Amino acid sequence: MEKHSGKMSILDKMHDHFLHIAPRYGKLRTTDIGPITFIANKIRDLQHIQAADIGCGTGRYGLKLIEHVGEKCHLFCVDNNMEMLTHLRKYFLEHHVTNFTPIRSDSHKIPLQTDLLDCVMSFNAIHHFSLSNFLRESSRILKNNGKLFVYTRLRDQNAKTIWGMHFPSFAKKENRLYELEELKSAFEKDPNLNINSVKLFEHHRVFPLERLVEQAKNHHYSTFRLYKKNEFKEALHKFVQNILNHYDDLDKITWKDQNTLLVIENNQ
Ligand SMILES: C[S@@+](CC[C@H](N)C(=O)[O-])C[C@H]1O[C@@H](n2cnc3c(N)ncnc32)[C@H](O)[C@@H]1O
Repeated sequence: MEKHSGKMSILDKMHDHFLHIAPRYGKLRTTDIGPITFIANKIRDLQHIQAADIGCGTGRYGLKLIEHVGEKCHLFCVDNNMEMLTHLRKYFLEHHVTNFTPIRSDSHKIPLQTDLLDCVMSFNAIHHFSLSNFLRESSRILKNNGKLFVYTRLRDQNAKTIWGMHFPSFAKKENRLYELEELKSAFEKDPNLNINSVKLFEHHRVFPLERLVEQAKNHHYSTFRLYKKNEFKEALHKFVQNILNHYDDLDKITWKDQNTLLVIENNQ
């Protein structure tokens, strides 16, 4: 791993983060079914589906998609972190799913042929990519009229999560996420990609405080890697205090998460 004057670059830090969290990643995060059923409905009429999940991680969304559309789908699972792909392979095989190909690759240079895919998806990952390069590459590997689905939380949606509201500096530190207008203008700059629709998802969450603390301690969001060690410890302490001040039932901390799904068509 490249180091710069003893300090890791942010990209190296994130690569290191995903390397270490890979064994626990699927269990620490909450998987939303709404976007999967939405995407499955959009593509299920195709006879054969060639799809790719970019920044696939350990495959929790990819597996769900295959379970929804069945064996007529072949999924290319693309991630630049080998450890994530190792766990993905294990996870898929445990679920007796074999119609997939893991590919270790950067999101901007994917070793797939031009005009191959019916569908490209990315969940919770575009803020880690070089956006314009990822869009260009998605357009290249998609067939004409193929669809790109981008599921993400926007910057203002992040601020309304339990972490954004109660974990000190969480929303401020997470400056990699996009606002909707920023995403729209990135798509407008790409000559081939046109936004078809923008869908908002709202998820009602109910978690015990214990689970939230476990998630934070395990850095289930890479945002926590942006804190210094002591700063994180103090912020976690303050988070618990804030929760104690705002909620009576510590077994049922409730809030609403919002996410956005962009549906984009490739018109060459
Ligand atoms: C927040 S995780 C999301 C994983 C998965 N989509 C999910 O929702 O469970 C982001 C993933 O993107 C991968 N990633 C980050 N930068 C990447 C890049 N430039 N090219 C490909 N994958 C990348 C990371 O290794 C990680 O697995």
